[in-house]
Amino acid sequence: MNQDPIEKLESLRAEAQLGGGEKRIEAQHAKGKLTAHERIDLLLDQGSFEEIDAFRRHRSSNFGLDKQKPLGDGVMTGTGTIDGRPVAVFAQDFTVFGGSLAEEHAMKIVKVMDLAMKLGIPMIGLNDSGGARIQEGVVSLAGYSEIFLRNTLASGVVPQISAIMGPCAGGAVYSPALTDFILMVEDSAYMHITGPDVVKTVTHEDVTSEDLGGAHVHEEISGTSHFTCTDDSECLARIRRLLSFLPANNTEEPPLHHTDDPSDRCETELDAIIPEAPNQPYDIKKVITAVVDDGDFMEIQEGFARNIVIGLARLAGRSVGIVANQPMVMAGVLDIDSSEKAARFVRFCDCFNIPIVTFEDVPGFMPGTVQEHGGIIRRGAKLLYAYCEATVPKLTVVTRKAYGGAYCVLSSKSTRGDWNVSWPGAEIAVMGAEGAAKIIHRREIAAADDPAAMEAQKIEEYREMFANPYLAAERGLIDDVIIPSRTRPRLIRALELLASKRESNPPKKHGSIPL
Ligand code: HXC
Repeated sequence: MNQDPIEKLESLRAEAQLGGGEKRIEAQHAKGKLTAHERIDLLLDQGSFEEIDAFRRHRSSNFGLDKQKPLGDGVMTGTGTIDGRPVAVFAQDFTVFGGSLAEEHAMKIVKVMDLAMKLGIPMIGLNDSGGARIQEGVVSLAGYSEIFLRNTLASGVVPQISAIMGPCAGGAVYSPALTDFILMVEDSAYMHITGPDVVKTVTHEDVTSEDLGGAHVHEEISGTSHFTCTDDSECLARIRRLLSFLPANNTEEPPLHHTDDPSDRCETELDAIIPEAPNQPYDIKKVITAVVDDGDFMEIQEGFARNIVIGLARLAGRSVGIVANQPMVMAGVLDIDSSEKAARFVRFCDCFNIPIVTFEDVPGFMPGTVQEHGGIIRRGAKLLYAYCEATVPKLTVVTRKAYGGAYCVLSSKSTRGDWNVSWPGAEIAVMGAEGAAKIIHRREIAAADDPAAMEAQKIEEYREMFANPYLAAERGLIDDVIIPSRTRPRLIRALELLASKRESNPPKKHGSIPL
């Protein structure tokens, strides 16, 4: 007798739910990892998941695969909501063939990516995979290529977020690398192009997967990942929080959030935050949290190029991207890593209609052979390019120093800054007084009876003349000089005015950013 159709459906669903079976689920849990089902449940609003292609199976018979045709082919795909807003998601199931990617697995991901593009909703990928399914050969590689193509086409159209919650190796790393944000789970996640065995053969280095491409390596050294998470559930909660700042796609504005934090709140501590000595550090994150709604700042790439701070926050409920020099680390100097870190973020904000607020305290670009030979010219140019091309509202507050090329790069008025202001003690100049006086008065200082006294006098003269914001203000190169404690209300007013900003770039296929 034929099985009752509803019973059959239910038994198939139960089979799909089991993935690679109880034993493999136990093994997954023993590693401190959740299953694909459990991850999706934690990520999405309760009961909102609509699965697609749960019944899909692979078609291969290579190496006895015809005897193992698990439902779903090692990946769950579908849609759901986060805080009531639709998203598309895939979650690789490590319990099925180690989450390895083959034709059907790839086509499921492709289908949900196409859906995300069609609907204009964010795409979230939860990666936990042994890479290309070895038994299926080149079709697995073609599957990756299909995904990479879609990652690229979706870039700047819908936000794309990748969580690495297990292995992610070989060419597979390039899908996350093409997305906007990568989150990695400590101890269980790693990403590398070639594993320890290949490394040993080629370079004779002995290295573990963790030391080659663990979460801390990619957050602090390579700059590949954006967030390090303690476990799966923290990672999924961070994705939810990240999305709360973002629009669903590039034609929408970020969601407006209710806040009880008054728009006219003044912070008197800011009037005294800048130290007396110009080279003494202070923590720019204190300025950021004092200014933004409820002190709530979601820092991105916290461990990488810490001389620049980037992240998302809100002002009067509107999302803003924050870029800020950090005087606590290398005096907030711009170097290769900080330029690239900030450039990518500025471009992300510009793609998704997120205004950029820059807090500037920069002594210039980092000198030296390491930086010059490393390509500071072409790589620093990325940040300049990113700010110049951005058409979202750009607001800049010079807190202390804006020197030299770094003044130009960091959203200066002449690169279409919309609202550029300075705190009253700031110096906006070609360089600091010490360096400048020594260069322009070199002969006078050398010829003086007391060169040290002459140098001190010339430094003071220079400081009197140039080390203030008023020369820039006289030329309209900053729009105003503001009291630090009033930074929040002034930024909010400017941001509200700029909500109707209309600006575009000349028509072109795309620019040629110095990559
Ligand atoms: C098929 C795979 C697989 C793969 C793992 N499995 N990786 N099956 N293709 N790529 C299977 C295992 O056979 C095993 O099946 C199950 O998944 C779990 O794997 P284990 O090895 O038991 O787990 P673990 O000890 O945690 O090790 C995980 C691992 C290891 C480190 C990922 O499995 C591994 O090294 N796999 C191979 C990785 C690899 O070289 N992939 C190809 C990379 S090249 P059973 O039945 O025993 O449970 C690539 C190119 C992409 O991806 C190019 C794109 C352009």
